[in-house]
Formats: sequence, structure tokens, C-alpha cells
Amino acid sequence: MLPLAPAPRPADPAVAYQTARGRLLVGRAEDLLAAPALDDLRGRVQLIFTSPPFPLLRPKKYGNRQGDEYAAWLASLAIPLTKFLTPTGSIVMELGNGWNPGTPTVSTVGIKALLAFQEEAGLHLCQEFICFNPARLPTPAEWVAVRRERVKDAFTRVWWLSPTPTPKADNRRVLTEYSGAMRKLLQRGTYSSGRRPSEHKVGRRSFLADNGGAIPPNVLVPPESDTPTEPQAVLPIPNTASRGGYHEKCRTRNVPRHPAAMPEPLVEFFVRFLTDPGELVLDPFAGSNTTGSVAENLEREWVGFEADPAYAEASKVRFAA
Ligand SMILES: C[S@@+](CC[C@H](N)C(=O)[O-])C[C@H]1O[C@@H](n2cnc3c(N)ncnc32)[C@H](O)[C@@H]1O
Repeated sequence: MLPLAPAPRPADPAVAYQTARGRLLVGRAEDLLAAPALDDLRGRVQLIFTSPPFPLLRPKKYGNRQGDEYAAWLASLAIPLTKFLTPTGSIVMELGNGWNPGTPTVSTVGIKALLAFQEEAGLHLCQEFICFNPARLPTPAEWVAVRRERVKDAFTRVWWLSPTPTPKADNRRVLTEYSGAMRKLLQRGTYSSGRRPSEHKVGRRSFLADNGGAIPPNVLVPPESDTPTEPQAVLPIPNTASRGGYHEKCRTRNVPRHPAAMPEPLVEFFVRFLTDPGELVLDPFAGSNTTGSVAENLEREWVGFEADPAYAEASKVRFAA
């Protein structure tokens, strides 16, 4: 009798490329999250930072689910993703607004999907952030620029979730510049004390410690937006982790740009805020791999998943010298 052939090993995920600190895997998040080959990553990820395919009015090239089907799909990933986290880890998810087809009304699918995701894995909403981009084009064009019945849609919603109400986080790593008023106050050394309309009681020396910078708010503004605001009013996220811009690299190397690449400073803010160097960051919808390249530059380990082999291949450009 012939010896039995060994059972076939589950295929190892395809690696698009590898760097000093990370690797980009080609495949669907739902498949890779269940892959036995990634068992060594379970329980080790400090931050999952991602921007899933949005539920859009018109599907983009990579094809998006719509409506309740979208919310159910996103929620189905909550438990598998949470299994990859350390006990103090975080999931940060960015989602843009979608509009209902043919009407000037905003779809609630994105909000429903975030809530369904949170509830499915019993996650805590640690904080909601708004990523404000005043430089956005006046869209949806039909309602904003043609009929003039709506104002332009200029923000995306970012949810910070965790299995614990007290995930690892340190806002001293993301301090922003003091406002002019605060700098004057620190020089003067006294504060007009008394009860504020908000009922808070303010002492003469309250808020006078110079902590090297202001605690940022939860409204984030990428630097290219040119917003004329006091730095403390909204956080113009500094862009220190990027070595040469992604757009510039795509242009000079003739690589097509990903249609939904995130601003690098947005990723940088959360990587600094929620992880230490050497810790592991995962993006299950990597796209142009903004997350991996920022993590690499900030000396974090990283893993990315991307379903579209062409996007995976094109994202190599971020690591070009
Ligand atoms: C909004 S984009 C992410 C953009 C990315 N944050 C960046 O900065 O470039 C979503 C990405 O998810 C990919 N995608 C869609 N469905 C997927 C799936 N099931 N698993 C993994 N990737 C998927 C799309 O091809 C697309 O590149």
C-alpha cells in the first residue's frame, strides 16, 4: 500500500514586498484574518489603523458594498481583528461620509457600520475624532456647486476603539504648538481667576505650567489644508515622518496614485499617540500603504493587507529611496 500523501499545508499568504520592519500581504482582510499562517501575530498588535473601503454613492474602482450589506460586512471583521490586539491595544478607523443616490441627503450607513463594528466585539469608543480638510472640492457637486442647496462635505470621521476603556495612550507624544495667547499667558504668569460661564472655577495659577506644548483637540487638520487657525483651535498635524511626499514619488516614477490615500500626518498622529517604537501596527485595508510607511519611518513594526495586487505593487513607491 502506498504511504498516505501529507495533508497539504494551508497556502502562505502572498507577500507583495518586505522591508526592514514590515511586510505587505496580498489578499482579502477576511481571509488573511483567519489564516493560520498569521497565528504568530494574534495578541501582538498594539494599533490597528485603517480606512476601510467606504460605502459610496458610486462604487470606486475597487468595488464597494452598499447599505446594510456594508454594515454587516464591516461588523463581521470586528472580532477577528480584535483577536490580533494586545490587551491594551487600539483600533482606529477612518470613514468618510456617503450620500444617498439622487437626493441631497447623507447616508447613515457609515455611522451604522461603525456602531455595528463596535457592538459586535464589545469595543469601547475611546474618542471620536474629526479629520477636517477645508481644501476639499465642493462636493457632492450636484447639491453644492450646481443647485447650491448644501455646503461642501469637508471631513471624515475617525473612531478610536479598544477592548479596554484604558488602552495605552500618551498625549504628551502629540503635543502641538502653544497658541499666541497661551505663550503670552505663560510669560505673564497669572490668570484671570474666578468662575467661568461653563461653571468651572479657575484659580490664579491654573493652566500656567509650561508643558512644552498644548494638548491637541480631537479635530485634526492635515497640513496641506492651509487653514488660518490658531494651532490650538484645531491640530494642524505636523508632518515629520514622511520622507519625500507620496504624490511626488508617484509623479516622478510614473506610478498611478491610489484614489483614497490618507494624509500621512493623520496616521503619524495616532501611531505616536498610541504606540511605542518597536510595537506592531496593522492595516487590513492598506491601499497605498500610508500606514506601513509611516510606521516604518517611526520605527514601529508593521503588517498590511491589500486585496488588489495592483495597489499592493504600486504602494512599493512609498519605500523608494
Ligand atoms: C480607502 S482605501 C485605503 C487607503 C489607504 N488608507 C491609503 O492611505 O492608501 C481601501 C483599500 O481597501 C482595499 N480593499 C477593499 N476590500 C478589501 C478587502 N476585503 N480586504 C483587503 N483590502 C480590501 C481596496 O483595494 C483599497 O485599496
